Parts: sequence; structure tokens; C-alpha cells
Amino acid sequence: MMNRREFGNLVGLGMIATSLPVAIAACTPKETASEPPAAAPDAAVKIDSTPRADGFAALGTVADLDADGYLSQKDFIAGPVIVIRDPANADGLIALNSVCNHQGCDVAWKNDAFVCPCHGSKFNIDGSLANGPATAPLAPYEVMIDGDLVLVKTT
Ligand code: FES
Repeated sequence: MMNRREFGNLVGLGMIATSLPVAIAACTPKETASEPPAAAPDAAVKIDSTPRADGFAALGTVADLDADGYLSQKDFIAGPVIVIRDPANADGLIALNSVCNHQGCDVAWKNDAFVCPCHGSKFNIDGSLANGPATAPLAPYEVMIDGDLVLVKTT
């Protein structure tokens, strides 16, 4: 036979045991409310690079050229290309094959010259070789602006 004190102890333990999950649950951090999915970044404006009848194809936008200081595309339909505004002529553009003939790295535009990041070859604005180890200039492409697009000749 259980006396009153034993009964009280059992009831007390039972209450603790049954309230534990609640207490534990109360201490766990609330689930974060599911956040709405991040807004999809604006889909990059897809440029139609299909060559036109005159052989020019769109490389990118004038806005991107001016924002980044250059446009480049390794797999452009005409070949690897890098385009800058001509520092000597605000209306002019310069387009060159971006591949350094030393070991095939793509040059980068560095304010006043094209520089190969691999071994330091340097090319002048017109693509001529300033210093090696490259041994050949960067070949030019014809380039123009039409509307808000930069077009490079593919043929
Ligand atoms: Fe350009 Fe070597 S690949 S300097």
C-alpha cells in the first residue's frame, strides 16, 4: 500500500517527466519562419550574337562596356575577343584577339595596356607587343557600336 508521501513523490515525478518535453521544446530555438525564396537575380540580358548580313555580331552592351571598362568573351563566334574604348578617342573602340601567343592565356585590360596574367607579357593599346615572353601582337577585329550594342566583325 502506498502512503500519501510516496504517492505525492510519484505524482511529482510524473509531472516533471511529462513536462520535460515541453520544457525542452520551449528551450529549443523556434524554427525560423520559412523565408520567401530570394528574388531571382535579373536574368542576364541575353545578347543575340548571330552574325548580321554585314558580318558583325553583338558582343555585349555599351552599358556593360562602360561599366566594366571592357568587354571580353573567350568563346565569341569570331574568336576570343576583348574590347575597350579607345583612350585617345572617346568615340572609338579597340577590339583585339585576347589570346597571348606565349602559352594561350587571355590578356586583361589594365588601364593603359593589355597584360597577360600568366607570365607578364604586355601589349600596347593597338595590340602591338610591348614586352614578352609573348612574341606576337594581339590581332585586331573590326568593331563598332550600333544602338546600345557593341558589335565585332566575325568574317
Ligand atoms: Fe601570356 Fe605566358 S601566356 S605571357
